[in-house]
Amino acid sequence: MSLSAHALQRIDREIAKYPPEQKQSAVMGALIIAQDECGWLSPETMAAVAGYLGMAPVAVYEVATFYNMYNLEPTGRFKLTICTCLPCGLQGSLAAADHIKARLGIGFNETTPDGCFTLKEGECMGACATAPVVLVNNKRMCDRLSNEKIDALIDELRGAA
Ligand code: FES
Repeated sequence: MSLSAHALQRIDREIAKYPPEQKQSAVMGALIIAQDECGWLSPETMAAVAGYLGMAPVAVYEVATFYNMYNLEPTGRFKLTICTCLPCGLQGSLAAADHIKARLGIGFNETTPDGCFTLKEGECMGACATAPVVLVNNKRMCDRLSNEKIDALIDELRGAA
């Protein structure tokens, strides 16, 4: 899949942050931009990013598979990533995850039948003190999540779908 002119302009701004001979350093930002546009990173999209940055496709694939913010398969409109690492686990994140699963009727790495939500487990988001924390589409962090706040978040996102 080719990227739009708008996406390429945004990637150019990422490239401009680095010396000209190191434009490959923009790969993480470029992948985020490509994902924002396409919803997920197909092999074709990653190849397009690789071609634009002058990288081997496998090098882009290695980056995309290392970080869990990248979607390597289509997701629901809202990807909910809950941190289940130990510090959050000790502060109720596993119970919060169970509540989300029950509310949505899905488990980790699953998508609701209506395509609205995908649930993922995440690594530390640097917000351990305000657990449980959920990241919505990699960009919006929701913290101190009680069951009531989770219900309100799900209702809000469903209303926006
Ligand atoms: S361990 Fe969950 S945010 Fe740090």
